[in-house]
Amino acid sequence: MIRNDWRDHERLQGIEVVADSLRTVGYLPSRQIATTVYLAARLAKPILVEGPAGTGKTELAKAVASFAQAELIRLQCYEGLDESKALYEWNYRKQLLRIQADGAAVEGLEQKGGWSKVGQDIFDEEFLLERPLLHAIRSRESSVLLVDEVDRMEVETEALLLEILSDFQVSVPELGTIVAESLPLVFLTSNGTRDLSEALKRRCLFLYIDYPTQERELEILSAKVPGLNSKLAKQIVGFVAGLRSLDLKKSPSISESLDWTRALLEMGIVTLEDSSVPDTLHLLLKYRTDVEAGIKELTSSDRG
Ligand SMILES: Nc1ncnc2c1ncn2[C@@H]1O[C@H](COP(=O)(O)OP(=O)(O)OP(=O)(O)O)[C@@H](O)[C@H]1O
Ligand SMILES: [Mg+2]
Repeated sequence: MIRNDWRDHERLQGIEVVADSLRTVGYLPSRQIATTVYLAARLAKPILVEGPAGTGKTELAKAVASFAQAELIRLQCYEGLDESKALYEWNYRKQLLRIQADGAAVEGLEQKGGWSKVGQDIFDEEFLLERPLLHAIRSRESSVLLVDEVDRMEVETEALLLEILSDFQVSVPELGTIVAESLPLVFLTSNGTRDLSEALKRRCLFLYIDYPTQERELEILSAKVPGLNSKLAKQIVGFVAGLRSLDLKKSPSISESLDWTRALLEMGIVTLEDSSVPDTLHLLLKYRTDVEAGIKELTSSDRG
C-alpha cells in the first residue's frame, strides 16, 4: 500500500487553508485553484492544468512544493523525450569501464572461470541513472512531481506516463519491480497544443487556468510589485483586461502584465495618461500589430 502523506498535510486541511498556504509563498489562487489542489491531495489524484501561456500553471506546482517544503521533481517534456530520459537508463560508459577493468584484472591469470565473472555486476544500482519519474517513485518523502508541457511529448511516451500514474511502480528487468512508498502530488501542465488521451484525462482532476479576473490580477500585481499605487494598479488591470477582449495575436498574460507594471514603476510613471506609456507597450504585447492595437486602445479609452 502506497502512503498518501499529502492527505494529512497540515497546510492542506481545507480549501481556505490551501488558499492561505499558496498566498504565503506569493501565489494568489482563485477559489477553483485552491479547491482542485485540496481535492487532489485528498483523493490522491494528479492535476492536469491547462490554459494559456503565462497564467500560472507551472508556478502553481512550484508554489505547492514551496509551502509544503517538499522536493519539486520536474520532468520537462519535449518532442523526442523517451523512456531513457523520463524514467531511467543504464550508464553505458561506466558499465564499459567496469568490463574493461574486470577484463584487465583476470588477464594473465590462468584462473579457471575468471572470465565468466567479468561484467557480472554491471546491472547494479551504481550503474543506474535515475530520471525524474523513477526519482519520484523512489523518493521516500512526499514530493511534488511536475510533468511540464505534457502536450509536447509523443503519444507513446504519454502511454508510459499513464502506466506510472496508475500504479506508481516500475519494473526494471535487471533489478525487479520498484514500488513507491509515498505518493507524489502530481501536476501535469499543458498549453493544449494537442489533445491528450482520454485515458490520461480520466485519471486526472482537470483544472483550467484562464486569464485572471480583474480582482485577482489586482491582487497579484499588488502582492508582487511593491510600491505600486492603487490608482495605477486599477488602470493597468482595466487596460489589460480590455486588451484581452480584443482579437490580438497574443493576449498579454499575468507574467507580461507584471513585467509591464515593473517597467512603468521603473520609469516613474504614475498614470496611464503619461505620454511615455506607448513606448513601453512592447513589454506587454509581443507583435507589432498587437502593439499598434494597444496604442489605439490606450488613446481611445477614458481612464478617469
Ligand atoms: N496566481 C498567481 N499568483 C502570483 N503570480 C502569478 C500567478 N499566476 C502567474 N503568476 C506569475 O506569472 C509568471 C508566469 O507563470 P507560469 O510560468 O506559471 O506560467 P505558465 O502558465 O506555466 O505559462 P507557460 O504555459 O508559458 O509555461 C510566474 O512567474 C508568476 O510570477
Ligand atoms: Mg509553464
